[in-house]
Formats: sequence, C-alpha cells, structure tokens
Amino acid sequence: MTKPILLTGASGALGRMLAREMAAQGVALRLTDIAPFPDAVPEGASFTKADLNDGVTILRLAEGCRAILHFGGVSVEQPFEDVLGPNLRGLHHIYEAARREGARVVFASSNHSIGFHRQGETLDLDCQFRPDGFYGLSKAYGELMGRLYWDKHGVENANLRIGSCLPAPVDARMLSTWLSYPDLLRLVMACTDAPRLGHAVIWGASANPGSWWARDHRERIGWAPQDNAEDFRATIEKKIHPSEVARRHQGGAFCVIDYSRPTPPPVDAFSLD
Ligand SMILES: NC(=O)c1ccc[n+]([C@@H]2O[C@H](COP(=O)([O-])OP(=O)(O)OC[C@H]3O[C@@H](n4cnc5c(N)ncnc54)[C@H](O)[C@@H]3O)[C@@H](O)[C@H]2O)c1
Repeated sequence: MTKPILLTGASGALGRMLAREMAAQGVALRLTDIAPFPDAVPEGASFTKADLNDGVTILRLAEGCRAILHFGGVSVEQPFEDVLGPNLRGLHHIYEAARREGARVVFASSNHSIGFHRQGETLDLDCQFRPDGFYGLSKAYGELMGRLYWDKHGVENANLRIGSCLPAPVDARMLSTWLSYPDLLRLVMACTDAPRLGHAVIWGASANPGSWWARDHRERIGWAPQDNAEDFRATIEKKIHPSEVARRHQGGAFCVIDYSRPTPPPVDAFSLD
C-alpha cells in the first residue's frame, strides 16, 4: 500500500484546496492545522488539530509518511515574535520528522523571500534572498533549512517560491506573480511523484508572459504551468498600488509594511544594492 502524505496548514486557503483535490485523486492524506478543518474531511483522509510548535505531535503525525507538504504557519507579515514559533521552530520539527521517516518535504516558500528585488528585474535561482519582512525572512530560512537537510541528511525537498496563489489574479502586479490553483495542484503532485528531487527550488507562478522569474528546477519534476494571468488583463491592469515602494519592488504591498527608509529613497541609495 502507498504510504500517506502529511499536509500541514490543511485548514488554510491552499491547504483546503489541496486536501480536496488530492484526496479526489486517491492520495491518502493526513491533514493537520491549529485551526479546525472547515470542510467535511475527504474520504481516505484524517484530520488532527495540532500546533507546529509541538514537535512530539508533528513526529507522531509524520510516522509512516512518504512526504510532508508543509503549508502551515504564519502566511502574512507579522511581528517577529509571532513568526518565530510556527515558521522557524515549526519548520525544524517538520524537517526532523522528515529525516526520521525518510520522507520528502514540499515547502510553501514565497516570493516575499526575494521581495526587495526590483519589479521588472528577471531573477534566476542564484539571485540573493532579499526578504521584505519577518515573514519573507522565515521563508528564506525555510529554504536554507531544506538546503541543510539535503546536504547533511539526504532529505529531499522542493521549495515552491509561490507568487500570488488565488482563484484569479486581482491586481496589476499579479500579471507577473499569479499562480492558479490548478497549476499549484499539478506542481505539488509533480513534487510528490518525481523519482528524484534532491534540493529543488521552483518559482510558483503560472505561465504569465509578464513573469519576473526565469530558470529553476522544474525540469527535474516535469512540471510546466498551463494557466496565464493575461486572460484577466482587462479587469486588473488598472489596479495599481498607490505606494511607490510597493510598485517598485517584487514583494509589492508587503514591502511597505513598517517601511522606514526615506520615501522615495535617494537615487544614489540604489547604487549600494
Ligand atoms: N496564498 C498565497 O498566495 C501564498 C503565496 C506565497 C506563499 N504562500 C504560503 O503557502 C502556505 C499556505 O498559504 P495560505 O494562503 O493557504 O495561508 P493560510 O493562512 O490560509 O493558511 C495557513 C494555515 O496555517 C495554519 N497555522 C498557523 N499557525 C499554525 C501553527 N502554529 N500550527 C499549525 N498550523 C498553523 C493556519 O491556521 C492556517 O490554516 C503558507 O505557508 C504561505 O506562506 C501562500
């Protein structure tokens, strides 16, 4: 019998969708979240309410699993103390569980790990992390945790630098960053099914012509996005953020939160990039 897959953040927006769609494809799922699961638990799945801070319970939940889809934790910008437990300590619990089980990890990373790169700049995998807050910093930490656990322990992992994963794009920035639900589902399935993963980093965006993101490890897993934000251009292209800081940087509105450089920064400040 195929081993089950553990999905954290199952009660969240993306977790609910993955739980429903993967269960419908016959994947045996263990679902977990600190919040109750808001839907009927799909057939073939179970749900356990748990805090990512509770390492013992995470180890128990991962027992016998072949993969951990790690979608739980703080998912927007928050004060450092609030990010610390779920996103840093919790991530460590996930990787220790994966190491013990010989499971692979699919980590929901974020564009906010590179959010202070300029819009319009095309990034490859070798771009620097430029987190746009404590949340984005926790995602950079998560990707580096994956690097460490592959290099040192052979724990395979895929780090999905998700752009904006919503049913439809809602503003002009998402002409570059949108990831459709079906493209995310196919991406996650490709990560769980690929014969070999190693330490992979993949830009989580649909086939948007306006994308800022180029080379990654998608060939390794045989994934190609199929949807395209251009289909929504007429309804979103005029929806532009009022802040110049948001318009200038890939992380958009997250860059503005608690921003305390002079606005706009002096031109010569960027020569120090
Ligand atoms: N939706 C996007 O566009 C997007 C973009 C980039 C990255 N991501 C990442 O994808 C993942 C899922 O995103 P989402 O939009 O579904 O977010 P979400 O906030 O809807 O879901 C996150 C879930 O994590 C759970 N959680 C929070 N703290 C927890 C804790 N201490 N213990 C256990 N569970 C806890 C929450 O209850 C929530 O259900 C997140 O890691 C997010 O950072 C999402």
